[in-house]
Amino acid sequence: MSSIEKDFDRLALLDDEGWTQNNNYHDFLLRQVPHGCVNALEIGCGTGAFSRRLAQRVQHVKAIDLSSEMIRVARSRSSQLANIDFEVADVRSCNFSAGHFDCIATIATLHHLPLRAALLKLIDVLRPGGVLIVLDLFESEHNLLKPSGARDAMLSAVASVVSVSLRFLYNGRLKPPREVRAAWEEHGKSDSYPTMEQVRTLATEIAPGAKVTRHLLWRYSLIWQKP
Ligand SMILES: C[S@@+](CC[C@H](N)C(=O)[O-])C[C@H]1O[C@@H](n2cnc3c(N)ncnc32)[C@H](O)[C@@H]1O
Repeated sequence: MSSIEKDFDRLALLDDEGWTQNNNYHDFLLRQVPHGCVNALEIGCGTGAFSRRLAQRVQHVKAIDLSSEMIRVARSRSSQLANIDFEVADVRSCNFSAGHFDCIATIATLHHLPLRAALLKLIDVLRPGGVLIVLDLFESEHNLLKPSGARDAMLSAVASVVSVSLRFLYNGRLKPPREVRAAWEEHGKSDSYPTMEQVRTLATEIAPGAKVTRHLLWRYSLIWQKP
């Protein structure tokens, strides 16, 4: 079992369905889903919160995750929805039919994969006219002597205040529980993120016309309609 799989099996058991820095953006992401979408795919669905919202907008959702615990929890929370097909799978070894999906969404997952190869695979299985919806984390500029570094530090300070406030408002606590923080800290040791510049350069190259947006809570979105 890979360490990513192990980390997320552990995190699945700690998920309490509360507010997170990822689900904070669900409404925005759902607004990008094309009208009349029949087949949607979610990569790295976790406990299935976004898949369940997607299933209310589209005919069928296929949702995959590497972690069997994530999929077990996702299935147990989705028994009311007959149009989601959850599967334990590694996106790298999935053989989807080219051009099959009208919409592909992925949240906080692509940073676990080589970004270019993962995006190319998703682009291949998107049908022409279909929409790719990515939300993921980016690396801030750390050099405070550069204007971009100073700006990132200031935005990060604002993001911390907003994040703590929203967690308190929705979850009634300033920090996640101790065991959740410990699990994320352990997982974070092996995480790495692209910079906004790297994301924009790659998007220009392989998904020209994509809308890449920097969001406050350390995340970017990439929204692209396949020509
Ligand atoms: C940070 S979690 C995000 C989960 C969910 N999208 C959310 O927003 O709450 C990342 C998820 O990606 C999954 N994942 C990582 N690598 C994967 C891969 N190669 N194939 C499928 N899922 C993967 C992990 O198991 C984990 O559930």
